[in-house]
Amino acid sequence: MSMTGSPVTMTGSGLALQIRGLRVTARRGGRSIQILRDLDLDLRSGEILGVVGESGSGKSTLCRAIARLLPGGLVAESGTIRMGDVDVLGIRPGQLHRMPSRGVRMVFQNPMTALNPVMTVGGQCTEAARAGRRMTRAEALARSVEILQRMGIKNAASRMNDYPHEFSGGQRQRIVVSIALAGEPAVLLADEPTSALDVSTQAGLLDLIREVCAEHHTAVIFVSHNYAVVSQLCSRVLVLYAGQAMELGPSAALLTQSRHPYTAALIASLPSVETRVPRLPAIPGQPPGVGEAPGGCPFRPRCRYADDGCRSAPMVMREVAPGHQTSCMRADVIWARRGGDDSTGQAHGGDGSTGQAHGGDGSTGQAHGGGSSA
Ligand SMILES: Nc1ncnc2c1ncn2[C@@H]1O[C@H](COP(=O)(O)OP(=O)(O)O)[C@@H](O)[C@H]1O
Ligand code: SF4
Ligand SMILES: [Mg+2]
Repeated sequence: MSMTGSPVTMTGSGLALQIRGLRVTARRGGRSIQILRDLDLDLRSGEILGVVGESGSGKSTLCRAIARLLPGGLVAESGTIRMGDVDVLGIRPGQLHRMPSRGVRMVFQNPMTALNPVMTVGGQCTEAARAGRRMTRAEALARSVEILQRMGIKNAASRMNDYPHEFSGGQRQRIVVSIALAGEPAVLLADEPTSALDVSTQAGLLDLIREVCAEHHTAVIFVSHNYAVVSQLCSRVLVLYAGQAMELGPSAALLTQSRHPYTAALIASLPSVETRVPRLPAIPGQPPGVGEAPGGCPFRPRCRYADDGCRSAPMVMREVAPGHQTSCMRADVIWARRGGDDSTGQAHGGDGSTGQAHGGDGSTGQAHGGGSSA
């Protein structure tokens, strides 16, 4: 968990975060490889945005770029990230210790490593609560007990002097989230924070995150490879593939009216409620390796709708409905073929067919499985 920035004031628009043209690159063998490509994103205060995509699609990199915690070898080469009045990428690392009263905090994919093993849980939580804020130690302690209690740590008041190893794995996960929320950040970056928990514990923790964030108008980026979890928690969803935005829109609209074949394939492979097994096998083929995305649409080798135009046309997000954007340049054609609604069962597989998406040719193939990467 970490926190960056200088004091954040929200703009009149209520935007907690504004990202424009963010490009993150890695140097490999003397060449520059794009890990995130020209990403734009607005996040309102109090909003919970889901970020989904297969492993390697750039979800963690996006969070780390926002938190100014990119690993060595990765650099935010261009673009801007603004939190209120603060130019996040413009802050020099030397200024990072000047913690803002309400900045950005991140819960990492593996929260177990985020706790300091030689510092008490109470000490870590009160330190986070006080960072950048005028608060007495006693106030911070009371705040810490309250948040730990709410996050399900029983008898929190009597456990403040315990060390992380004295808690169970599930409790440590809750403690990490508590520490992140103790400072009431403007933006919480939650990178698969609950993936190691069982389903019911996970659901409880998600409810708590939702509750606490709503109280403090914290904007959340919630990363998961599991669309089902994201659709429960998040009002909007961003779908990433090979470091690029594929689709962005209300989570309900993406579930039933997806305008991108990749999103539709992700959703079609969700387990059905009745059977708990995927309706369709995972999307055939592999995402491209780092730096191997083909020109044009990176999903092309796996997309059954691809045509020659998809090879070269620039990837641009465009609005297809209010607040709903897609990068699929053939989205209108595909939508028209489907009759402009979801009755073809593309997203749900509700017709019992094995076809992921109807291409109008009557075939039932989900996607071209032959291409792994270009
Ligand atoms: N330090 C690094 N140097 C070079 N490439 C990296 C580094 N960290 C991550 N990558 C690459 O960036 C891509 C995106 O990774 P990541 O953001 O971790 O994806 P996700 O979180 O969606 O699984 C991956 O292909 C990964 O191999
Ligand atoms: S139809 Fe073309 S642009 Fe749309 S997802 Fe398939 S390959 Fe990409
Ligand atoms: Mg990740």
